[in-house]
Amino acid sequence: MNPRPEGVRGATIVGTGMYVPERVLTNADLEKMVETSDSWIVERTGIRERRIARGDEASSDMAVIAARHALEAANLTPDDVDQLIVATTTPDRILPSCACTVQEKLGAKKAAAYDLFAACTGFVYSLGIARGLIGAGLADTVLVIGVEKLSSIVDYTDRNTCVLFGDGAGAAVLRPAASGDGILAVTMHSDGGLGEVLEVPAGGSAYPVNAAALAAHDHKIHMRGKELFKVAVRTMEESLRQALDVAGVSASDVRLLIPHQANLRIIEAVRQRLDFPSDRVVLNIDRYGNTSSASIPISLDEVVREGRLKPGDLVAFVAFGGGATWGASVMRWTQPAPITSEPALAVASARRTS
Ligand code: ACO
Repeated sequence: MNPRPEGVRGATIVGTGMYVPERVLTNADLEKMVETSDSWIVERTGIRERRIARGDEASSDMAVIAARHALEAANLTPDDVDQLIVATTTPDRILPSCACTVQEKLGAKKAAAYDLFAACTGFVYSLGIARGLIGAGLADTVLVIGVEKLSSIVDYTDRNTCVLFGDGAGAAVLRPAASGDGILAVTMHSDGGLGEVLEVPAGGSAYPVNAAALAAHDHKIHMRGKELFKVAVRTMEESLRQALDVAGVSASDVRLLIPHQANLRIIEAVRQRLDFPSDRVVLNIDRYGNTSSASIPISLDEVVREGRLKPGDLVAFVAFGGGATWGASVMRWTQPAPITSEPALAVASARRTS
């Protein structure tokens, strides 16, 4: 979280990509599954629809598509990747890592590949790791992917949680940057004492999935919504202020704030506390819901492709997630490589679930 020491090279994002599944799950669809309503969901969360992966579509499949687009945008190939970090809570399997599966499918033969488990803060944490690797000269090209197939751990009989989450992937390629460019600050924090606020109780070594776990739906997400709301707002505000301080800039200098798309009311509360103008806060939660570690890189790719970031602009990221984990980053946007690909957004034949 410290400013970059003298003589240490910087790191910047040179390409972004994203992918979301075609299948759309609307609030109207959810009304048929649990006792809820479109108006309750929109008012409490800002979510109107979310994307749901096909049964045969794993996290690694979504990650590879987002990664290919990010590499194309950076004018790089899978062979150029030195380190491949996959931020995810929903890997294909417990072993091997999702990153190793992505490495194989992508053909990034030279990369060291590993997963980073920090829930919704995974992308911000990954930026911190990537900056450290590049700054220390341990890597020149780091591919960071945030991907989630949250539909695989959402309990679609629990109205408290099933309205919130969606699936998708976002990716960013990081390369060395000139002094004063790229990532200016990253703050990373955790508090394991808050673990039960958002958890999947069964499926690990402490509580392997068994018949009792299945019956209690303990292999699915459990959430204490009210508690989470308060701690998310407080910690996101604190870590963003800290990142702005470290970068030596103020909120009014920031062109775009890209918050983790947790919940519109959480984002709005953080925005108000920082007195941030609404038109500078990036929102897509209405279309994708909460995609955990994928939400920031998906949002970033959308704004890059819409031309909303110019070289020299300051962009800030902030997130809170299960663990609990939280953090923020501030970067000075640099001239990206020319974008040669279309967005990976699979909208052409979006179909509703029944
Ligand atoms: N439809 C209708 N009613 C619902 C629904 C639903 N989908 N879900 C909950 N309710 C009910 C509750 O059962 C409760 O009913 P009761 O009073 O009879 O018990 C009632 O609504 C009110 O519940 P509250 O918890 O008071 O509702 P609140 O205004 O706090 O909103 C919410 C709930 C949206 C979950 C809120 O607490 C929240 O946003 N928390 C943060 C959750 C979040 O963002 N999680 C994302 C994952 S973590 C992350 O990404 C950072």
